[in-house]
Amino acid sequence: MGLRVVVVGIPGVGKTTVVDMLVAGFKGAKLANFGTIMFEAGLSQKLVKNRDEMRKLPVEKQKRLQKFAATKIANMRERLVVVDTHLFIRTPEGFWPGLPFDVVRAMKPTHLVLVEATPEEIAKRRSSDTTRYRDAVTKDSLTEELALARSFLTVSSTLTGAPISIVRNAQGKQEQVALGLAKMLEKASP
Ligand code: AP5
Repeated sequence: MGLRVVVVGIPGVGKTTVVDMLVAGFKGAKLANFGTIMFEAGLSQKLVKNRDEMRKLPVEKQKRLQKFAATKIANMRERLVVVDTHLFIRTPEGFWPGLPFDVVRAMKPTHLVLVEATPEEIAKRRSSDTTRYRDAVTKDSLTEELALARSFLTVSSTLTGAPISIVRNAQGKQEQVALGLAKMLEKASP
């Protein structure tokens, strides 16, 4: 089996941008967008009409979609599988883990990458994305989510034994971040 990198970050840090660049520039890499796999299943089951409705579903329904996506990704066998996902989801029932024990164990990550940006950058990136239905945020709520992400990240690392990288996706530096990750993964590749 090849490398399996799980890339996480709170919405608006730019993780999807970085992941797409990484996959495009790495020979034999496959993208696994956890949210897209869940959404396609949710859409076909008529549970949701857009991806932002998923986190508002009862957690029990989200869990079924989550398990479906984890099983699909666990069966991917490419040289490098890059999983674009979340450490936690802000649901009406509270913060809910995106990588609970059974999910993270099934996916067997070899590397965990947390993408970060400043609260100001995140707020700006979220508000400029008019294609999505984002939750309202304040600087305090973003600071809280950034801290929460680091806590969830250490749990995932402890459960899987995978090393953690924390990368800062500064304004205009998305390509540089993707290149840095590609370099690290080329060296780690068996
Ligand atoms: P997901 O598809 O991951 O959506 P998201 O949470 O909204 O995250 P985004 O991809 O929109 O934000 P991003 O941080 O990646 O930013 P982007 O690159 O777009 O998840 C959707 C849903 O799926 C979740 O809400 C949840 O319901 C479900 N889900 C997923 N995983 C799950 C799991 N494990 N368990 C349960 N549910 C799960 O960039 C944003 C903007 O910033 C863009 O305009 C971009 O051009 C810009 N930008 C990026 N980088 C830079 C930079 N360096 N400088 C300037 N601009 C930049």
